[in-house]
Formats: sequence, structure tokens, C-alpha cells
Amino acid sequence: MKRALVTGGAGLIGSHVADLLVCQGWRVRILDNLEPNTHKLGKPVWINREAEFVHGDLRDREAIEDALSDIDMIFHQAAYGGYMPEMAKYVHVNSLGTAQMLEVIREKDYRGEFAGGLQRRRGSVPKARPRFSKGAAGGTIAAR
Ligand SMILES: NC(=O)c1ccc[n+]([C@@H]2O[C@H](COP(=O)([O-])OP(=O)(O)OC[C@H]3O[C@@H](n4cnc5c(N)ncnc54)[C@H](O)[C@@H]3O)[C@@H](O)[C@H]2O)c1
Repeated sequence: MKRALVTGGAGLIGSHVADLLVCQGWRVRILDNLEPNTHKLGKPVWINREAEFVHGDLRDREAIEDALSDIDMIFHQAAYGGYMPEMAKYVHVNSLGTAQMLEVIREKDYRGEFAGGLQRRRGSVPKARPRFSKGAAGGTIAAR
């Protein structure tokens, strides 16, 4: 059985990605910090019950390292909203958090695939000769 990590799997896009993967027979792990500005009522009921839920932060390197263990494919949808006044937090989560995840992928010689939301950020995995294709809501970087 293939295993997927969905970051931001409690959010709009990530929760649908997680549902689809579960339906398709994937084993799914969700990493989400349940950002209070996004989830004002706490853990949402729509998180797929068959998915493993990890309450963790994209900015926490150790949490990323743990979440990546035994994963074949990463769907990176964790993001902090762009309509908040906290600009530094926006950059920290979305840019530095994503950059750190790509660093961990490289350091750990992760051999899976990475697909990320691209509304406001783009990335590649250095030395991995990424194949990069743009889509309406996301793109894929193959890190093999
Ligand atoms: N919703 C859209 O219409 C749309 C369209 C195009 C692109 N996108 C992109 O897709 C991605 C996801 O968007 P969405 O609409 O699902 O957003 P969302 O706010 O509904 O979900 C984001 C999830 O990320 C989590 N999160 C926030 N900060 C985190 C952190 N530090 N660590 C771990 N988890 C964290 C939140 O708790 C939330 O569950 C974003 O990059 C967005 O730009 C969304």
C-alpha cells in the first residue's frame, strides 16, 4: 500500500486530497498545526478518520523529519492565509517552512515525490533534477 503525507490536510484543499487518497487505497498521514486563525472551532470534523492525524507545525524541523518517515508521496498544502496582517508569519510558514521541508527532503535523500500548492510559492529540490509542471492549483516536483 502506498503512503502519502498531506501537509495542511485539515484545510480546504488538503482535506479533499486526503479523502481522495484514502478512497484510492492510500495510507494517509496528515500533518497540520490546526492554525487557530483558520480553525477557530478547533479540530475540524471533516478530517478523514482513516488518515493518521499528526498535530505538528511545518516550521518544526523535527516534526517534518518524523512525518516523512516511510512516505512515498508528499502533497504539500499547509499554508498560512495571505489575508492576515501577520506578514512575517506568512513568510515564515509559507516560504521558510516550505524551504525547510525541501532541505529535509534533500538531506534525508528522500526518494518519493512532492506536489505543492503554487498560488504564491514555487520550489525545486536542488540536485534532484526536478521535473516541474504547472497546474491550476498546484504543480509537481518529481524528486527521483
Ligand atoms: N483554496 C483555493 O481556492 C486555492 C486555490 C489555489 C491554490 N491554493 C493553495 O493551496 C494551498 C492550501 O490552500 P487551502 O485553501 O487549503 O488553505 P487552508 O487555509 O484551508 O488550509 C491550510 C492548512 O494548513 C494548515 N497550516 C497553516 N499553517 C501551518 C503550519 N505552520 N504547520 C502546519 N500546518 C499549517 C492550516 O491549519 C490549514 O489546515 C495554499 O498554498 C493555497 O495558496 C488554494
